[in-house]
Amino acid sequence: MKKIRMGMIGGGIGAFIGDAHRRASRICNDFELVCGVFDANYERSKEFATMEGIDLSRCYESVDAMIEAELKLPDGERMQSVSIVTPNALHFPFATKLLRNGFHLVCEKPMTMTVAEAVELEELVAKTGLTFALTHTYTGYPMVRQMRDLVASGVLGTIQRIDAQYYQGWINSIIHGTESRITGVWRLDPKHAGASSCMGDIGVHAFNLIEYTTGLEIKEILSDLSSVKDDVSLDLDGTVLLRFGKNLKGVIRASQVCGGEENAITLAIYGSKASLKWAQENPNYLYMLSDTEPTRVFKPAHGYNEKLAEASHTMPSGHPEGIYEALANIYTGTAKSIRGQKFDPGEFPTVHDGVRGMKFIHSVVESNKKGNVWVSI
Ligand SMILES: NC(=O)c1ccc[n+]([C@@H]2O[C@H](COP(=O)([O-])OP(=O)(O)OC[C@H]3O[C@@H](n4cnc5c(N)ncnc54)[C@H](O)[C@@H]3O)[C@@H](O)[C@H]2O)c1
Repeated sequence: MKKIRMGMIGGGIGAFIGDAHRRASRICNDFELVCGVFDANYERSKEFATMEGIDLSRCYESVDAMIEAELKLPDGERMQSVSIVTPNALHFPFATKLLRNGFHLVCEKPMTMTVAEAVELEELVAKTGLTFALTHTYTGYPMVRQMRDLVASGVLGTIQRIDAQYYQGWINSIIHGTESRITGVWRLDPKHAGASSCMGDIGVHAFNLIEYTTGLEIKEILSDLSSVKDDVSLDLDGTVLLRFGKNLKGVIRASQVCGGEENAITLAIYGSKASLKWAQENPNYLYMLSDTEPTRVFKPAHGYNEKLAEASHTMPSGHPEGIYEALANIYTGTAKSIRGQKFDPGEFPTVHDGVRGMKFIHSVVESNKKGNVWVSI
């Protein structure tokens, strides 16, 4: 089958997640990177294109130039999808332009800067009928998919409590460094990051993981955020209480200042009959706990897994499936959608997940601002 011709915005030399997208698109083997605007600086963008072996005539100075030139190419050469891997503020303007010109999208989270932008994007995706995948990367892990299917099968009984945690520590060295380091970090600048740092960057992954695995919607939240230092304008740490309904509650704890923590996202779903626990730093092990039986451990690439989890491993059992493979699984689902093939709704997060995420971020900021009150999402 022919590869899908992919463009990329961002992801140039030294960028974090763009490189993971390229590796994932190669692992899934359905995409071929043909063009891009890889950096805000054109010279650096061309330097990157040369290193990557991209034809320099398809390394563009701006997104407008990319759209104009690609539309002039014959059907069989033109890019078909674009991966947007820039800082947050650029997702919406680039995504709307690309959709209006007929290109499928893979977009990083948080999807937009505001809820209004997110809703507008959802309407545009519906109108164009194009594929829009939002890369909440953790949903691509086989054992997260197993969690989703086990919850749906009802084996947990009634869900009674949900706990998600996302702790990092990397901002410690930045906020306790010089002022120029604070101003140089886009994640701490509302113009580039949006209304929130911690909840917008990582809390939203925890939120998405809960709604992805349980199929439930969080209805109300109460948040307590901290910026840790007076010269930091956005939250770096926070706790969010969750209400799903009358008898189901939970919590999201997220922090960028938990010294020593790396990428500690964990999820626990407690049911009346059994419970599930998963931790991203050890992603190949899903634990099922019970009051009456010994703990069970699910692992990828075993016939006992549910259908989507079973389809989501790239190697035989015992070969760890990591973050690149998780992202590759999202690209695989996206490719099926672009090609008009059948796919499972669990294969990639959509623009609707992006709307939910933006509602979460803004509700959390609002609750904190109003003095830690309950706010409906
Ligand atoms: N899904 C995940 O797990 C995950 C992980 C990390 C980051 N992210 C998200 O990915 C996005 C990028 O984060 P990052 O850490 O890779 O950032 P980064 O700063 O490392 O890279 C951003 C890239 O965008 C480029 N860029 C900036 N302005 C541009 C413009 N006008 N045109 C073209 N390129 C431009 C920069 O030159 C750089 O190459 C953010 O939205 C972030 O929230 C998601």
